[in-house]
Amino acid sequence: MPEKLIAVEADITTLPVDAIVNAANNSLLGGGGVDGAIHRAAGPELLAECRRLRGCATGQAKLTRGYRLPAKYVIHTVGPVWQGGAQGEPALLAACYRESLALALVHGAASIAFPAISCGVYGYPPQQAVRIALAECAQFAADEPNLGQIVFACFGPEMLALYRSELVRL
Ligand code: APR
Repeated sequence: MPEKLIAVEADITTLPVDAIVNAANNSLLGGGGVDGAIHRAAGPELLAECRRLRGCATGQAKLTRGYRLPAKYVIHTVGPVWQGGAQGEPALLAACYRESLALALVHGAASIAFPAISCGVYGYPPQQAVRIALAECAQFAADEPNLGQIVFACFGPEMLALYRSELVRL
């Protein structure tokens, strides 16, 4: 099961997986960070489809096509803004991973790539976020043999080292 989970240093928009996950905001109308990168790479049709989704609650996920991306789908999820850890952030972040995986499975996506949700603008402490990400994904992979590879796309060597050090602890 752990072999199904891999961490790579990559720009998520380049990954030829079935679905990439976007760390979006509640409006789903684009932003900076990985959200901006995905919209730039996917092209304007992505925003047009996102407009029709009428937003997304924190901890939830919605699926669109991938358009000009190598990935067939984009799963937009909204992570929690870090507020110190006592406002339900861990449960909401866990839900982002679980809901995204469930949506991927429903749409037959055999491979999925995640960015480090909430670890940028939203300020989540990376080590705590990575532990939640890996725990949720490992549990889902153990329960769902139909789900194939789960890729953690790290945008820099520090995040890659963190994912890899936590992966060996699984
Ligand atoms: N590929 C992979 N990872 C990326 C990329 C990329 N092209 N660009 C950025 N990242 C990484 C960041 O380095 C960080 O580790 O994604 C992680 C998440 O950072 P953000 O993109 O800032 O997302 P988040 O912290 O969840 O904040 C979401 O930022 O862009 C806005 O509209 C978005 O309001 C929302 C907020």
